[in-house]
Parts: sequence; structure tokens; C-alpha cells
Amino acid sequence: MIKRGRRLRMNADIRDMVRETRISKDALIYPLFIEEGKGIIKEINAMPGQYRYSVDTMGKALEEVADAGIRSVMLFGVPAHKDEQGSGAYDENGIIQQAMRQAKKEVPDLVYIGDVCMCEYTSHGHCGILKGDSVDNDKTLPLLARTAVTQVAAGADMVAPSDMMDGRVRAIREALDQAGFTDTPIMSYAAKYASAFYGPFREAAGSCGFKGNRKTYQMDFHNRREAVKEVMMDIEEGADMVMVKPALSYLDIIREIKNVTNVPVAAYSVSGEYSMIKAAAAAGMIDEGSIVAETAVSVFRAGADMMITYYAKELAEMIDSGRIG
Ligand code: PBG
Repeated sequence: MIKRGRRLRMNADIRDMVRETRISKDALIYPLFIEEGKGIIKEINAMPGQYRYSVDTMGKALEEVADAGIRSVMLFGVPAHKDEQGSGAYDENGIIQQAMRQAKKEVPDLVYIGDVCMCEYTSHGHCGILKGDSVDNDKTLPLLARTAVTQVAAGADMVAPSDMMDGRVRAIREALDQAGFTDTPIMSYAAKYASAFYGPFREAAGSCGFKGNRKTYQMDFHNRREAVKEVMMDIEEGADMVMVKPALSYLDIIREIKNVTNVPVAAYSVSGEYSMIKAAAAAGMIDEGSIVAETAVSVFRAGADMMITYYAKELAEMIDSGRIG
């Protein structure tokens, strides 16, 4: 036998030397939910270990993230009031805008990414404003643009539109440029699928209970080439980075996008992915840490340059301890 695959697996030193995928804390982004109100530290039922904070309590959570060596957070807002127009999204004093201002003061070292969408702010729960039963794409665009501008004016270092309206990246880019924010990057949720994996998030962000579904704007999970189309459109419109979402059932899409683009590719390991692991671990069916490590590495192996994950802190610890590398 000339070729023996096992030679390169003989001990940990050699295995580590020939490792093809290495993951770094620099590439982890932690999502956090900020709720309007005071003194809130409320565990999310469907996502054990994840909390909603208010602006006055979030400082400790942000510090914990920074202390873990994570460099970036993505903020989601949970407003006290919702209306048809989702006005809380683009209010200069909206919950995210308040959170950004305070966060940049309290823990200035993190990169703050603002989620740009309407669904947490609309009374009907859709990601844009409605005309009849359907979301009016073009009327939603200026509102998304205002949302982005007010978030950046409040301190956001980057914006991440997650609404899946057509033309929103261009609308946001133009509005940011006009407001003088020419250097603020856009991370576009370019290939975002209509997914049941968002279930727990809808409790977390209080955007559940909407009528119907999001299939007229989010993508059909049977499609792969369409993801390439969506990503290319967003890059043409000015997206600096693109995202695939969810992550785990979409590893083929991550690889596809990595192969056909030359911008950084993010993957969002969404709430349902987190909750499934949590639930299986709580039932004693799997070893949580091992599953978290293996799934995260698979996302990077598929081609993700960055990963948005509720397990960011645990992953950071595993990277520090050498459990994954
Ligand atoms: C919508 C948005 C969603 C998520 C992030 N942004 C939910 C949806 O589209 O219904 C899901 C994130 C997760 O499940 O962790 N603004």
C-alpha cells in the first residue's frame, strides 16, 4: 500500500497541522435583542440561554460578549408600540437607535450591526408596509432607507437589511451616501429563505402572529440558482457583504455563493438551529458542545467567512481552549 490516509491522522499534532478549516473569534457575530422598557433581563422561552435586555441592562451583556473576545454584535429591536407603518423602525428615538447610542458609549469597542427590517415594528408583522394583503415593495424602500440612516446616525457601524424587498440595497446605499455615510458598509441578507427555522426568533423579537407567511418576499427553499441571482443583484446594488440564511440546511448555498462572488460571505445560524441543539441536549440525546463545534465548523467549511450565531460565546470559549481551532 503506497497511499495511507491514516498517516495524516496519527496524532493530534499532525491532525491540527493539516486541518483545512480554521475558525477564528474575529469571524463570530452575536445577535442580541433589545426591548423597549426598563430593567428587562428576560429569558426567551424558545431559546434557553438567550435573553432580551433593555437599553439600561444591556451593558453587562455587551461587556460579556466583548470579554469573550467577540468583536461584533447584531442588534434587533423589540419596540413597545407597533403600527401599520412600522414607524418605530425609522424613528430617531426608536429602540434600536436608542440602543446604538447607548451601546457605543458603554462598550465602544464592538462593531455594531443594525438589523434593518420592519417586521418587529409593524402591527401586521410583515417586513414592509401592506397594500391589501401583500407587501408593497416600492413604498417600503424609502422607509428601509430611513431606518438605515437613523441607525447609522445613532452609531451603527454597519447595516444589515433582512426584509428581502427588491431594490433595497440600492435605496439604502443612496440614502446613506446622501446623509454623508459613504463609508458605512451594507451586509445584505441576500439569500434569505422562507424558513421554519425562524420560529423561535419570532417569539424572541415579538414578531410572531402575523397573518400568512413571507413566501412572496423570502426565497423558496427548493431553489439554489435563484440564490445566485439574488446575491448578484444585491452586489450590483452596492452590497459590501452578502449573507445566506439559515445556515445549516443551506450549506450548499453557502458554497455556491462563495464560489461565484468575491465579497465576504456571512452565514446566519438562526434561532431554530440553536433551539434544536438546546432541546436535544436538554433531553440528554446529544452532547451540546460537540454538536455546536461540528455544526459551526461545517458552516465555515462550506465557505462562510463570518457566522452570526447565538452560540458565539460558547464557540469563543472553545476556540480559546483549543477544543476547536
Ligand atoms: C426579520 C428577521 C428574521 C430573522 C432575522 N431577521 C425573521 C423572519 O424573517 O421571519 C430570523 C433570525 C433567527 O431566526 O434567528 N427581520
